[in-house]
Amino acid sequence: MANKIIFPENFLWGAATASYQIEGAWNKHGKGESIWDRFSHTPGKILNNDTGDVADDHYRLWKKDIGLMKKIGLQAYRFSISWPRILPAGRGRVNQKGLDFYSKLVDGLLEAGIKPFVTLYHWDLPQALEDEGGWTVRSTAEAFADYADVVMRTLGDRVKNWITHNEPAVVAWLGYETGVHAPGMTDPVKAVAASHHLLLSHGWAVPVIRRNSPGAEVGIALNCNWTVAASNSAMDLDAHRRSDGKWVRWFADPVFGRGYPADVVEDFKRLGTLPDGTNFIQPGDLDIIATPMDFIGVNYYNRGIIRVNAPGNEPQNIFPSPQTPEHWTEMGWENHPDGLVGVLARYYFGYQPPKLYITENGASYSTPPDENGNVPDVHRVNYLRTHVAAAYRAIQAGVPLAGYFVWSLFDNFEWSFGYSQRFGIVWVDYASQKRILKDSAKWYKTVIKRNGFQTV
Ligand code: FCB
Repeated sequence: MANKIIFPENFLWGAATASYQIEGAWNKHGKGESIWDRFSHTPGKILNNDTGDVADDHYRLWKKDIGLMKKIGLQAYRFSISWPRILPAGRGRVNQKGLDFYSKLVDGLLEAGIKPFVTLYHWDLPQALEDEGGWTVRSTAEAFADYADVVMRTLGDRVKNWITHNEPAVVAWLGYETGVHAPGMTDPVKAVAASHHLLLSHGWAVPVIRRNSPGAEVGIALNCNWTVAASNSAMDLDAHRRSDGKWVRWFADPVFGRGYPADVVEDFKRLGTLPDGTNFIQPGDLDIIATPMDFIGVNYYNRGIIRVNAPGNEPQNIFPSPQTPEHWTEMGWENHPDGLVGVLARYYFGYQPPKLYITENGASYSTPPDENGNVPDVHRVNYLRTHVAAAYRAIQAGVPLAGYFVWSLFDNFEWSFGYSQRFGIVWVDYASQKRILKDSAKWYKTVIKRNGFQTV
């Protein structure tokens, strides 16, 4: 029997992007250099030495892009602001042209009836601040609060949905510990300091947003895989505890007022990444980090199966094979929709945020246009359909989920993978900058229109 899934009234359907991944115009109209400009211009850091210099050329094509959003019927659009476009040196002089760009974008969205969801930090730190230590120093957190103030004074009247940070765990651990992301540092001690300053800057920004934008909703977007231990061995169970502690609880616990998880503090001490005498956590910081928010944004992609090969080693993910395209995206990430139910339930029942949004969910498949100019991305449709159904199950279980954002609206610059991974529901031909709605965008359009779908 056909089964209809209908979402609650006012459920918000959107799609997400990030400034460095789509804008291009890396040095236009007074924009300063970001750490991703520096990193991608350094040979060997990005697959094929790709850069975001042009990306989707959205800085130039934004009007047309709003037209595409309208065509899909998006109700909300999550994008991020490039800090060095607004403050080329990270603090001080404001680049009015940068502010004007976002101001026009916001007006265009509102005219199209699309709600702007703005992320203040999706990874493109001004290089000038990195030169002073980046997130490893407290002054960057102070600069972030000032940057938030500058943005809010211009956009606070019209934008009512704000996200301070996107995935601070990825920034701290990939940017400062493994060095796979900009700024490419490999210093595990400084990475822990970076994690603290990211969280502190979030706490400082929340009241700045509220002050400048009456009635605004503020939250943070946290990444959370659904992880399980690879076996019941004490070693694998402990690896799972450590990995979950470092990636999830280290960030979620303090923003919800629980302070840093004691077991992870012990892990970091044992590993020497939180040496005795560390003093970057100052009295009162944890209260600032715990400033109440209106929502939590959940970025969910896949399951992780966690093991360790020797006690004390870094936990690892297992990747079983063969990896069929129905079950594994081209990132090598497992398609595991039940994990989304688990993650949403975990955040809601475990931390009790007032509400939740899925701020990112999507899949990398490179399906190209066919001879008729269609993009039959069946695996992405399957991924999205099963995950939207999972989101619905979470609502049925009592989770106050208020919206869903597909990652991503466009194929774009996928960080260290360059342009090799395509997450878009809109195909982008990088040579011509032509866009094509993939079958997934057409499918999503009907979901939005019906506020749900038929399961069989
Ligand atoms: C998330 C990022 C986003 C995109 C997706 C695939 O971690 O927030 O920018 O790269 O992964």
